[in-house]
Amino acid sequence: MGRAFVYVILGGGVAAGYAALEFTRRGVSHGELCIISEEPVAPYERPALSKGFLLPENPARLPSFHTCVGANEERLTPKWYKEHGIELVPGTRVKSADVRRKTLLTAAGETISYKILVIATGARALKLEEFGVSGSDAANVCYLRDLADANRLVNVMQSCAGGNAVVIGGGYIGMECAASLVINKINVTMVFPEAHCMARLFTPKIASYYEDYYESKGVKFIKGTVLSSFEFDSSGKVTAVNLRDGSRLPADIVVVGIGIRPNTSLFEGQLTLEKGGIKVNGQLQSSNNSVYAVGDVATFPVKLFGETRRLEHVDSARKSAGHAVAAIMEPEKTGEFDYLPFFYSRVFTMSWQFYGDNAGEAVHFGDYSGHTFGAYWINKGHLVGSFLEGGTKEEYEAIAKATRLKPEIEDLIELQKQGLDFALTV
Ligand code: FDA
Ligand code: NAD
Repeated sequence: MGRAFVYVILGGGVAAGYAALEFTRRGVSHGELCIISEEPVAPYERPALSKGFLLPENPARLPSFHTCVGANEERLTPKWYKEHGIELVPGTRVKSADVRRKTLLTAAGETISYKILVIATGARALKLEEFGVSGSDAANVCYLRDLADANRLVNVMQSCAGGNAVVIGGGYIGMECAASLVINKINVTMVFPEAHCMARLFTPKIASYYEDYYESKGVKFIKGTVLSSFEFDSSGKVTAVNLRDGSRLPADIVVVGIGIRPNTSLFEGQLTLEKGGIKVNGQLQSSNNSVYAVGDVATFPVKLFGETRRLEHVDSARKSAGHAVAAIMEPEKTGEFDYLPFFYSRVFTMSWQFYGDNAGEAVHFGDYSGHTFGAYWINKGHLVGSFLEGGTKEEYEAIAKATRLKPEIEDLIELQKQGLDFALTV
């Protein structure tokens, strides 16, 4: 049993949705494009799962957040795929790939062949078991990567209003879920090994602003330690977590966000990997020229930094997908991907954006006791990264533009004095 397509997108997440839109814009014919996804639904905007989806009132639900609604583009419902002659194969896991033969084998036993493959398999959440802790498959321990996880999290959350949550991990999932749990009237304790939250991006000064705000909402922080074991009741539900520092925290719900691993396993030994992802060139093309990789799974050259990176953010998934399809459909007209990394988050009523690279020395500016503040990162005499909380659309555009220009910075004190004005006038 088998089917053949010109183009196959493997994975049905954010990058897949944006790739599909670009394929139709560039004139793919009916029946040429297929999307195979393990998830049972059409591609959707994954960031909604830790934000609107978890709200106690009027939560976001599909079909409202199918891609590509997040970038103010068309919203691609299952009907849209049908109307555009795109074969959407949901609820189907690809269990092996043969890039020499150009075939994929699904768990249902179907062989799907392609001329061009776009790998958009994203990543999976790391499990506590990978850090030597067992029992994380208990009914009230929640990870958050896909819709099934989000539904489960909502159900557990609703069953323990007024109860205690332990959030493991101080990264994006930890911070966004902690805020959502508080909004759902659950008492939250966050546990993470670093000295402050969002250690991959925030400086201690930026982190302390958010930690103070969370504390004002009742969140407790336990830093510099990790979970060592769970305690269970007779039904197998977790009742408490024990930490390596000896403390014990009662828990009605545990939310775990301890990082991800890109889904590369189908291609190990077949494609070149780098920095944990599938290595691609400036056209998002892998070491096999019929295979492209986009989104969380791709390690691509970031021209601005002169090195390769694997990014785990939605804007990068959207733009890398668009660029790969341009390179596939119109190779002569498509230059190298020239991407300015962009990350953002929204928690409670706060919202920040970051552009570029957080390398070198940070220069903080603005009012850290108010609502608008930020930081620039200066590396080798140039501005390479900018962070801003509470900015206006114009201010965010200004820091993005300034970061892309990589202006030379001679006087850090002067830069600090100018603050946001520097970006607005550069
Ligand atoms: P994505 O994970 O979206 O999709 C991968 C798809 O491949 C899935 O459908 C999966 O089932 C499928 N797949 C994998 N292996 C398969 C196989 N063998 N066979 C078939 N299908 C397979 N970023 C940001 O910038 N701002 C934000 O606010 C957020 N918020 C956020 C919240 C939450 C809860 C998460 C989990 C993530 C975010 N992110 C984010 C990150 C962002 O969502 C992420 O970078 C993109 O979803 C990456 O898009 P991809 O398409 O690469 O992977
Ligand atoms: P992350 O990499 O942001 O944070 C992982 C955190 O895990 C670290 O900050 C650390 O505190 C913690 N940690 C590491 N090892 C640990 C251990 N042994 N025990 C306890 N804690 C440990 O990853 P995440 O928060 O799990 O997010 C998953 C993915 O989802 C990431 O790719 C992230 O970019 C994405 N995401 C992004 C956003 C956003 O951009 N706004 C929002 C949600 C999720």
